[in-house]
Amino acid sequence: MTEVITVLKDWFKIRKGLKGSLGFVPTMGALHKGHKSLFEKSVEENEFTVASVFVNPTQFNNPNDLQKYPKTFEQDLEMLNEINVDFLIFPEYETLYPDNYVYKVTETDYSTILEGEHRHGHFDGVLTVVMKLLNIVNADKAYFGEKDFQQYKLIEGMTKAFFMKTEIISCPTIREEDGLAFSSRNVRLTEAKRKQAPLFFKLLKSNKTPEQIINELTENGFKVDYITDVNKRRYGAVYLGNVRLIDNVEL
Ligand code: PAF
Repeated sequence: MTEVITVLKDWFKIRKGLKGSLGFVPTMGALHKGHKSLFEKSVEENEFTVASVFVNPTQFNNPNDLQKYPKTFEQDLEMLNEINVDFLIFPEYETLYPDNYVYKVTETDYSTILEGEHRHGHFDGVLTVVMKLLNIVNADKAYFGEKDFQQYKLIEGMTKAFFMKTEIISCPTIREEDGLAFSSRNVRLTEAKRKQAPLFFKLLKSNKTPEQIINELTENGFKVDYITDVNKRRYGAVYLGNVRLIDNVEL
């Protein structure tokens, strides 16, 4: 049974008693097969695995997106139980932000492009909460999906810059059969938009130029934030209706 922890003092006591390697998978809940692959890798590689579920308000630049973010605690817990995740840290905002976010972690280079350019303050929120969680959990390894490749790289860079001891592990993007990357936001797509969605990945991995891809997506009802090549990787962010999807492929 996954033990649910809401009080940090309880976790610190448990952590002290754990003998053996600890893997950590931070999430915002609404767990899907992408998360499942991270838990499975951690369970395979470590004696103990801890997950966290916290919808982190400081990384949402759009209040509507935060409000609509799916919350599926019971189902999440069921998945964690099935995969034998030992612990779930499920904190309140006040627990993680005793300072009410007057302290933050900022990266000033790679975080200013792609997602950072289109979602102001997003990576400050991500890096700040991940630093807090890594410090709290004190894991040997932490697992992040490559769907959010820029996020993974920034977190890895942060742990090196601040001499943090948790090793950051990246895991491949998990996709639906039609190619759409699993994301907690997919459930918000209407049936019609869900049918359109796979075109995003199909074009991203095609031989077309970013300009051609932007034109084709726009013609097919997508609103494109960006399709950009950086360091042999193609990144994209689009809106289908009011749902924002991101993805990336290696070139
Ligand atoms: O990728 C996510 O789900 C979030 O950005 C993370 C890493 C859990 C931080 O809130």
